[in-house]
Amino acid sequence: MMALSCRHLLGLDGMPKKDIQTILDTATSFREILERPIKKVPTLQGKTIVNLFFESSTRTRTSFELAERRLSADVVNFSADASSVKKGESLKDTARNIEMMKIDMVVIRHAAAGAAHFLSRVINANVINAGDGAHEHPTQALLDMYSLRERLGKIEGLHVCIVGDISHSRVARSNIFGLRTMGADVSVCGPRTLIPSDIETLGVRVFHDIDAAIADADVLNVLRIQLERQESALFPSLREYRSYFGITRERLEKSKRQITVLHPGPINRDVELSADVADGEQSIILQQVLNGVAVRMAILYLLGTSA
Ligand code: CP
Repeated sequence: MMALSCRHLLGLDGMPKKDIQTILDTATSFREILERPIKKVPTLQGKTIVNLFFESSTRTRTSFELAERRLSADVVNFSADASSVKKGESLKDTARNIEMMKIDMVVIRHAAAGAAHFLSRVINANVINAGDGAHEHPTQALLDMYSLRERLGKIEGLHVCIVGDISHSRVARSNIFGLRTMGADVSVCGPRTLIPSDIETLGVRVFHDIDAAIADADVLNVLRIQLERQESALFPSLREYRSYFGITRERLEKSKRQITVLHPGPINRDVELSADVADGEQSIILQQVLNGVAVRMAILYLLGTSA
């Protein structure tokens, strides 16, 4: 039986290649189940999983819930807005109280970097990080890698350029760690104000000219411009960002390669990505969403059935 070397999925920093490979290979089996008329298996029957979302989410939360239900787990959804967190209860107390109700796994999204690591130290249930601050979003990077492997047949040797706000992106960090472990050549591209000055220490190349990045890349993983950060003047205007870094059909057509385009969502159409590229045949954005369910089923299965 395939198994992971860890009890929790907290991040891809330091995760062995074998574990990533195991998750991607297991996801292939679950991807097939999603094509069946009845998309449900009894694998996690009797297990109870709590989705602890302290931050908003559309894709990740829905995807985890679908994955859990398709594995026949009992699912409890917790939303910070409707809980005693509003009355000042700490994360530790909230989690310990929930654990006393005999739950098996917790999926957590939190605005604080390190929240999932903290939780894994104070409760016995398996913990899965669904995004912690600007730190990591491991399941997003795993579904990105799965989708790349599905479209291009490999990850090793591909040049993947991550475009946009690298400084505030947990998706970028998890992708950098995972892709480098799997043998991809990784670069980042964006304005100097949105790229950490020491990013090269993570083993990535840096581009500030999007046309130069596109000329060299096989894959663009385009990040959401975080409109909520507009007030911090990290770039002059959305129009200027689009003109210097927006991914458009005209820009892609200049490349000699057939570039594959990913985006973790939610998309700001015609800001970081033009609508025709988002909906065009180079885009695998909707495949990412579909594959996300299979990848999360694989992770829940591997963690939930390990000794
Ligand atoms: N990609 C992603 O994390 O999307 P959500 O914020 O909607 O979960």
